[in-house]
Amino acid sequence: MKEPVVVLRNVWKTYREGGRTVIILKNVSTTIYRKEIVGVHGPSGAGKTTLLKLIAGLERPDRGEVIVDGYNLNMLDDLGLAMIRNTVVAYIPQDYGLITDFTVWENVELPLLIAGVDKGEREKKIYEALEYMGLLDKAHVTPRKLSGGERQRVAIARALVTTPSVLLADEPTANLDWENAVKVADLLHQVSSDFDTTVIIVTHDPRLLEYVDRSMNLIDGVLKDKEGVTYEGLKR
Ligand SMILES: Nc1ncnc2c1ncn2[C@@H]1O[C@H](COP(=O)(O)OP(=O)(O)O)[C@@H](O)[C@H]1O
Ligand SMILES: [Mg+2]
Repeated sequence: MKEPVVVLRNVWKTYREGGRTVIILKNVSTTIYRKEIVGVHGPSGAGKTTLLKLIAGLERPDRGEVIVDGYNLNMLDDLGLAMIRNTVVAYIPQDYGLITDFTVWENVELPLLIAGVDKGEREKKIYEALEYMGLLDKAHVTPRKLSGGERQRVAIARALVTTPSVLLADEPTANLDWENAVKVADLLHQVSSDFDTTVIIVTHDPRLLEYVDRSMNLIDGVLKDKEGVTYEGLKR
């Protein structure tokens, strides 16, 4: 049976802008399952990043529920949400969010330090994550010396090092050419099948939707499941 991992129930999100309230997400409901790779497609400003931040526990909804791997995020205080971000869910920002003065190794170490993992265990996990991503030879350089594709792989390694149930990728291919974009899509599939990870990719590039199990549209804050899009293997 399919196991629900991300459940949104009637989620509303607004921001205050210049004294008025702007509705960003309008009554969004969806269920996403274990190991599923879902693409959320929509134009710039549609609310895609906001949606990911709600699932990551980086923002809170005005109304409605966000449930991630059995945790109702509404029930958690800020400390609880920080714990979730370090264990259950990992968010990869569009700009990768790497610390440019840190080496690749140190960037990947950060979530483990925050989680209080001891040194020996940290070293083992960082080594494994970098090896998996083919980045061992870059361990001691800073992200400045890396290509866009390599930076994205460091960001994925940093997200994976805590073995989250859910990986949230914000426009993972926006800064890459198409060949590297396909490699990232391929890699996210590999991650999903190797670690049973649910992957949610938001993108404004419709081509990327050929590489997901299921796609949804987000337009003006309204989320719609699209029909008839089934992942049948990578098309190059
Ligand atoms: N912290 C914020 N405060 C006010 N408005 C915001 C904030 N974050 C996003 N917005 C607005 O919400 C809308 C949706 O933003 P976002 O979720 O980033 O869209 P997308 O990722 O689809 O481009 C935009 O109009 C944006 O300006
Ligand atoms: Mg965005």
